[in-house]
Amino acid sequence: MKLTEDLEKAFNNQITLEFEASMVYRQLAIEMDTRDLPGMASWLRHQADEEIVHANKFIAHLDNRGNHPVIGNIPAPTVTANSALSVFQAAAAHEERVSEAIRDLYRTCEEAGDLDARPLLNWFLGEQIEEEATVTEIVARIAMTGNDGPGLLRLDSELGARPTRTTEN
Ligand code: FEO
Repeated sequence: MKLTEDLEKAFNNQITLEFEASMVYRQLAIEMDTRDLPGMASWLRHQADEEIVHANKFIAHLDNRGNHPVIGNIPAPTVTANSALSVFQAAAAHEERVSEAIRDLYRTCEEAGDLDARPLLNWFLGEQIEEEATVTEIVARIAMTGNDGPGLLRLDSELGARPTRTTEN
């Protein structure tokens, strides 16, 4: 069943937000690369790819339902992070924003009585819990290293070992 015009707009906003999240992660990866933390940069780059996978899931949903997916304006990422800790804190803040947007989308669909979006949105609710937990844990672990350079380098190496995912899966 086709989504209403209002729901189509709401989903398109979410598509745009997922692409924005990808740009934010990509910029954060650059920040880590410029600070010689390649493992963290690599982790953030994979995350940038994963956000494109998220956008693609929403695009596929609109397409499958006979709607028209449209990517909106994506603002340039404004990153003021100047340390590993602030980079991952910025990532956590962005994830919280995305989580709230998914909840809003869920509420909007429920109010409109749109049942067909439920499986997709349930997946995203679970995904956001996982993403927030993962980033929050990294923030806590970076904070634990304090001024311990070798500790930070160990964590960098660990995060760099994250398995590769692509925008196609
Ligand atoms: Fe698509 Fe990290 O939320």
